[in-house]
Amino acid sequence: MRLTVIGTGYVGAVHAACMADIGHEVLGVDIDAERIAALTSGRPPFYEPGLSEMLVKAVTTGRLSFSTSLAEAASFADTHFICVGTPQHPTTGAADLSHVEAAVNGLAPYLHDSGYERILVVGKSTVPVGTADRLAGRLHAAAPRAELAWNPEFLREGCAVQDTLRPERLVVGARSEQAEARLREIYAPLLDGGTPFIGTDPATAELVKLASNSFLATKISFINAMAEICDVTGADVLTLAEAMGQDSRIGPRFLAPGLGFGGSCLPKDIRAFTARAEELGRGESVAFLRQVDEINTRQRSRTVDLARQLVGGSFADRNIAVLGAAFKPRSDDVRDSPALAVADAVRRRGAQVRVHDPEAVDNARAAYPALQFALDVAKACEQADVVLHLTEWPQYQELDPVALAAVVRTPAMVDARNTLDPAAWCSAGWTLRALGRPRLG
Ligand code: UDX
Repeated sequence: MRLTVIGTGYVGAVHAACMADIGHEVLGVDIDAERIAALTSGRPPFYEPGLSEMLVKAVTTGRLSFSTSLAEAASFADTHFICVGTPQHPTTGAADLSHVEAAVNGLAPYLHDSGYERILVVGKSTVPVGTADRLAGRLHAAAPRAELAWNPEFLREGCAVQDTLRPERLVVGARSEQAEARLREIYAPLLDGGTPFIGTDPATAELVKLASNSFLATKISFINAMAEICDVTGADVLTLAEAMGQDSRIGPRFLAPGLGFGGSCLPKDIRAFTARAEELGRGESVAFLRQVDEINTRQRSRTVDLARQLVGGSFADRNIAVLGAAFKPRSDDVRDSPALAVADAVRRRGAQVRVHDPEAVDNARAAYPALQFALDVAKACEQADVVLHLTEWPQYQELDPVALAAVVRTPAMVDARNTLDPAAWCSAGWTLRALGRPRLG
């Protein structure tokens, strides 16, 4: 089938490449000509395992091409996926829908003249509940043969390709059977592979995404709130999480305590959901999400406090090494990165901070030009008074604590992600601290 993907950021680039991979003819469209040029030569504008290879293959076989023209999109296909961003409004916390509106409004006039009998516009962006129905009226007025459906995206950065080709579910909110049937046809290879399909109305589809991300954020903040209780009782949050996770009704995933969540989705989505619920007069129904947000942000200041204790109460003239800048491992994304928020807070309190990250240094430097960066761990840790482990890249678990002890000034470590082996580090002479855990050594 022929389809277009409008917006080639994280979601769009992956969706376009994966749709071509399962056999469709795809046109990716973006207003950013530089990005389009990079994608055309198989270079994704971000780090995502497996994506570059997939892009090269799809472009070479001719199944995937790119353009900056919405007019070309309208004549290329009768199905258009909208994958543009919905950033957080700087003051209200609500979702900024200007890119979604610009994409739909920009495409609509061309659809009118495209000659296709039935046109389907499919939103994948995360939007406030009610957006699809509101935009559908406008789209229909401009292009009467066009219909709007919503098909939220659940991919995680770092495993986006796998999440798109083997999703845990496909959710489609549509107002007609034909629209749902077309999406079933597009996703047939995934459905044949056993992916569950949930067909519903657009409002429910929009809510599935917001509710899912809110639930995940709540689960993380729940265990981090327990870490705070552990700190005043001497209990161990890691054992607590392990024991809770054994209950199959709770499950172990998203119950990893530590520095909390960041990235481009969870923080923004819970704030946008709160703003939308208030608009709908149901603010009290999701009031707990404000606490989820507060608990999450508090873990950053608690980590700074832990580091301050380890350097004797003041950061002035102290050397601090930071391991990790990305908001999570296997990503170069630093948007709302808890690691960089901590690194910068420590710098602002007078410390010399050197940050290492295997993939995210360029993005981190652009976002936080006042921080210093090191290209290897030993350089970051040279003469450090404390090392902060803030993003759990697998290679940090392989570090040799004996060798690193010889590089630092004081072998002191805050393991804010709880993935280092306390026995190995403590027996190499390190003082190890973590939120919600009794003194480890
Ligand atoms: C998330 C959702 O998982 C995905 O379904 C949605 O489409 C987009 O938002 P992503 O932002 O890529 O995906 O990251 P995710 O893997 O969910 O992690 C989010 C944050 O939570 C990271 O900062 C991670 O470090 C943190 N986290 C995750 C924890 O602190 N503890 C956990 O137990 C799990």
